[in-house]
Amino acid sequence: VRLTDLPTPAAVVDLNRVEANCRWMAERAVALGVALRPHVKTHKCPEAARLQVGGSPGGITVSTLAEAGFFAAAGFRDITYAVPVAPKRVRDALNIAERIDRLSLLVDSHEAVRAIEEAARNGRVPVFLKVDCGYGRAGVNPHTDGAIALAERLHRSSSVEFRGLLTHGGHSYDCVDRLGIAAVADQERDAVVGFAQRLRVLGIPVPEVSVGSTPTMRVAEDLRGVTEIRPGNYVFFDGFQSMIGSCDIDEVAFSVLSTVIGSHPDRSTLVLDAGALALSKDPGATHVDPTVGFGVLCDPQLRPLAHLHLGSLSQEHGKAAVSGGPMPQVGDRLRIIPNHSCLSAALFDRYAVVRQDTVVETWHPVRGW
Ligand SMILES: Cc1ncc(COP(=O)(O)O)c(C=O)c1O
Repeated sequence: VRLTDLPTPAAVVDLNRVEANCRWMAERAVALGVALRPHVKTHKCPEAARLQVGGSPGGITVSTLAEAGFFAAAGFRDITYAVPVAPKRVRDALNIAERIDRLSLLVDSHEAVRAIEEAARNGRVPVFLKVDCGYGRAGVNPHTDGAIALAERLHRSSSVEFRGLLTHGGHSYDCVDRLGIAAVADQERDAVVGFAQRLRVLGIPVPEVSVGSTPTMRVAEDLRGVTEIRPGNYVFFDGFQSMIGSCDIDEVAFSVLSTVIGSHPDRSTLVLDAGALALSKDPGATHVDPTVGFGVLCDPQLRPLAHLHLGSLSQEHGKAAVSGGPMPQVGDRLRIIPNHSCLSAALFDRYAVVRQDTVVETWHPVRGW
């Protein structure tokens, strides 16, 4: 099957680029002296995860229990569920854990610890304490007595195996260049390495110190004190990553193949059959360029077409402005690099995996929670 034969819209994964991206991060982890426990939330399929872990001892990271169960069934035996566990989902998590070597959970509240203690059966549940390193989403503030108290509770609990500290420098996405990202990478590392040291002084062992986002792991130079990294988006990258300097546009491995379904020279616009249900409505890196639009329009070889601007999306339509270049015709095919590949990929039930323009595999991701 050739790319040109696919019904549109279609999610297309460039296998050469995925392999190169996975190789780069695996080599970076070795150079930095840390284990790679890659996140699989971007693609949610075992084929890509196997490329991520090729030769790495660190297991994988997931963002839903549906992923945990699916990857457990696919043979992954060491999984970290890196979202604070909802108390009522602890039993679901423990059911999955029974089938593999280790499913580590994440907490940042006493309520979640209590739920784990109530549900724990035979043996201790591996648990990470989630630390906020400045992103301000999940996690305890490491400079508070409350954070120490929660770590102490995890350490003392007979139902818990306290595995260590975990943080995610998601505010790296607010940066505009690599210099800014490097500062967030330092902050991400220092928050957990420093807290781990304070806990050790108090007699609380901290075996693991886990960090990572794609931008910070692309620029980090010094990860002393860190034991593992958890980037995920780098498998595909996307328009957002390229705009903040985390990747080049020709490293992006995920795109949406679409067909021109309307061509209107009178108003210099064209309409594509890829709307918000193919691309998501992620606004992209508007802090870098407020006029960014909803994706980079490219030719079928994935070369960006600067005269096309994808300015609006409705459910199944994408509308692009055409300026200073050839007007695509109805039936022409264009590929779109989405702002956020994780969200766009999640809208498809299969990916066409290509080398150049030949479909060599079809991958089926897991969906739901
Ligand atoms: C807790 C956690 N760890 C790691 C990652 C991976 O980061 P990225 O998507 O930047 O690769 C994420 C992504 O949201 C995350 O939430």
